[in-house]
Amino acid sequence: MYAKTTGQVRQRRQRLAASWMEEGRDMTAEASCASQGELQRLSAQLLEVQENERRRIAIDLHDVLGSSLTMIKLGVEESLQLMAANETGAVTEALQQLRLKVQDAFGEVRRVAMDLRPSTLDDLGILATLSWFFREFSAVCHDTKVEMDFRVTEGNVPFQLKVTIFRIIQEASCNVAKHANATCIKVSLKKIGDALYLSIEDDGNGFDPLELSRNGWRDKGFGLLSMKERAKLSGGRYELTSAPGQGTHICVRWQLGSAVAS
Ligand SMILES: Nc1ncnc2c1ncn2[C@@H]1O[C@H](COP(=O)(O)OP(=O)(O)OP(=O)(O)O)[C@@H](O)[C@H]1O
Ligand SMILES: [Mg+2]
Repeated sequence: MYAKTTGQVRQRRQRLAASWMEEGRDMTAEASCASQGELQRLSAQLLEVQENERRRIAIDLHDVLGSSLTMIKLGVEESLQLMAANETGAVTEALQQLRLKVQDAFGEVRRVAMDLRPSTLDDLGILATLSWFFREFSAVCHDTKVEMDFRVTEGNVPFQLKVTIFRIIQEASCNVAKHANATCIKVSLKKIGDALYLSIEDDGNGFDPLELSRNGWRDKGFGLLSMKERAKLSGGRYELTSAPGQGTHICVRWQLGSAVAS
């Protein structure tokens, strides 16, 4: 009886183990299909974000530099005509005007380049770049008080994360300026244990993230998507909390040592 029972139990166990292994295979296959699907979705979104960023750069180059170069070309043509007519005084004046236009164009190139990758990030680091950024922000958004709490040293922030952190802060702050009507924005960057915590919080209008995604937030803009993608691609955990009338809070946490280049 005992032997029969033991045999039956052994057989049952074997059958169960076999079926678990089958299920396990199915689950692994499902998980791998799901993660492949997610990967494809993320890659497609990333491409879209990149394309959009390129479009913005193209517009910037066209609008900002295109018009400056056109004015410079017209100025050169005018100077040549004046020279041909031997109008020395007028040529000098035209060339002086031209020099100012070239100087302006330099300033514009610098601005576009700073937008692409702030040189201060490489030269002075993330903390100095953020101070510069919020000085500029305050000069434009007089009504929004900026509270900064940076409890990190330059060395605490991995090099490859600096541009990611800067871009997320830049987009989140632009959103505050554009949409929030906030009286205050609090930005903090802290190292606690082995993790880096970024937080950007405003006390403005807020919005309903679910409603935004239900109503096709892609039509609205790319800022929220690009912040999320940047955070994920650099190995960060991204969280956005917002509700109408209750402000918006964006948090990203990176486990140090696991951050990847983005
Ligand atoms: N801090 C905020 N306060 C209030 N509403 C916000 C805030 N951030 C985002 N939103 C809402 O979420 C929408 C989507 O933001 P997102 O940054 O993706 O796009 P956008 O700012 O409209 O355009 P883009 O960033 O592409 O220039 C905004 O249009 C706005 O309605
Ligand atoms: Mg935006």
